[in-house]
Amino acid sequence: MNILILGSGGREHALAWAVMQNPKCDKLIVAPGNAGIAAIAECATFDINDGATVVSFVEENAIDFVIIGPEAPLAAGVADDLRAAGVLTFGPSKAAAQLEASKSFTKEICDASGAPTAGYAHFTDPEAAKAYIREQGAPIVVKADGLAAGKGVIVAMDLDTALAAIDDMFGGEFGAAGAEVVIEEFMDGEEASWFILCDGENVLPVGTAQDHKRVGDGDTGLNTGGMGAYSPAPVMTDSVVQKAMDEIVKPTVAEMAKRGMPYQGVLYAGFMIKDGQPRLVEYNCRFGDPECQVLMMRLGAQALDLMLATADGTLDQAQVNWADDHAMTVVMAANGYPGAYEKGSAIRGLDALPEDSKNMVFHAGTAEKDGQIVAVGGRVLNVTARGDSLQEARDRAYAMIDQIDWPEGFNRSDIGWRAL
Ligand code: AMP
Ligand code: GLY
Repeated sequence: MNILILGSGGREHALAWAVMQNPKCDKLIVAPGNAGIAAIAECATFDINDGATVVSFVEENAIDFVIIGPEAPLAAGVADDLRAAGVLTFGPSKAAAQLEASKSFTKEICDASGAPTAGYAHFTDPEAAKAYIREQGAPIVVKADGLAAGKGVIVAMDLDTALAAIDDMFGGEFGAAGAEVVIEEFMDGEEASWFILCDGENVLPVGTAQDHKRVGDGDTGLNTGGMGAYSPAPVMTDSVVQKAMDEIVKPTVAEMAKRGMPYQGVLYAGFMIKDGQPRLVEYNCRFGDPECQVLMMRLGAQALDLMLATADGTLDQAQVNWADDHAMTVVMAANGYPGAYEKGSAIRGLDALPEDSKNMVFHAGTAEKDGQIVAVGGRVLNVTARGDSLQEARDRAYAMIDQIDWPEGFNRSDIGWRAL
C-alpha cells in the first residue's frame, strides 16, 4: 500500500523507519520530512495543516493510508477531512484532539469519568485567578488552556511566580492559548507516560516511557520538548498499569465515545505516580517526541499493522509481540537550545554509524546541503539504541554519540539516570 506520514521530526523519522520495514508498505511519502527521512522515503512539501490540501495530495498520489504525526494538523481537523474523503487515517478527529488542545476539556472529561487528577479551577478573568491562587497557596500550577508548544505550564513553587504567570498569560505571552487559564493543585511524585492505541472502542497499550524535559544534566535548567527518553518506564509497575487502565484510560475512552467523539489514534497519557497510585497529568493526542523513537525501536515493523488496526477499528483482534527489551534515545540539540541557536552547522561522522534493529540515529532538525548533513533546528538528532537491559541500550547510544562530530551541538550525559 501507499502510505503518507505528516510531520518532520524525530518522531516521524522513527515512524517512517518502522513502516518501511513492513512488507505491506509499497511506497512511503513523508511531508515535509527531513534529511534522515529523505534517505529512506520520498519527501513532499505542502501545507500539512490544511485539510483540503492534504486530501488533494492523497488523491493525486493514490495514498491508501495516512499517519498524522504532530498535534497541529490534528487540532486543525485534518483527520476529519481525510475520513470524510474516505481515506484510512491514523489520528483523532478535531473533537477528540481536544484532549490535548484544551486543558479545561480534559479536566471536564476527568470529572465526568471519575479519573483521578489534580484538583483545579479555570478562569477567564485575571483578578479572579489571582484571588484563587492566594486562597490556595503555593506550590501551585498555572496552565494556559490551549496549545502552547509545551511551554504554557508554570509549576510555581511560590506565590509570586504563580501571580506573575497569570499576568504573563493574560498579557498575551501565549497568544490565544492563554485567554483562559487552568489552575491546578501541585502533584508530587514520579512522572511517566503511557501510549495506548484506541480505535474508538478498543484499547491496546504500546509501551511506557519516561522522558527528560529539562535541558541540563540532573534534570536542571529550562524546559524543552524532551532531551531523551527510555522505554519501558520502571515506575509503571504491573499494578500501576492496571490502575491507570481501569481508573483513567478506559473511563476516558468510554466517555469520549458517549459524547459522540470516539477517540481513534494514539492516546498519550502522562501520569504522576505516588505511593503506587497514578493520577493523570495530561493527555496528548499523538506519539511523544522523543518517546516515539524508543517505542518504534522496540515495536519495529509491527507498528504499521497496529496503526492500521487502529484506523480500521480492529484493535480487538490485534496484539503486540513484545521482546523483553529496553530502548533509549538521547537527543543532540544545537548549542543554545531551547533559547536562540545557530543554523547551518555541519554534522560529521553519521555515515560510519551502524543502522540496524539495535542502533539508529533518527533525524529531527536536519537538512542536506551540498552532500552534507547540516543542523536546521533546535533538536537535531535522536541517537537511539535497543538492548537486553537499559544499561546496554544506554551504552550503545552513548557509544554512537562519541562518534558524531558536531562541535555546534550538545547532549545530556545522564539520560535514564532515575532508572539506572
Ligand atoms: P502538561 O503540559 O500539562 O503536561 O505539563 C507539563 C509538565 O508540567 C508536566 O510534564 C509536569 O512535569 C508538570 N505539571 C503539570 N501539571 C502538574 C501538576 N498538577 N503538578 C505537578 N506538576 C505538574
Ligand atoms: N516529549 C514530550 C512530548 O512529546 O510532548
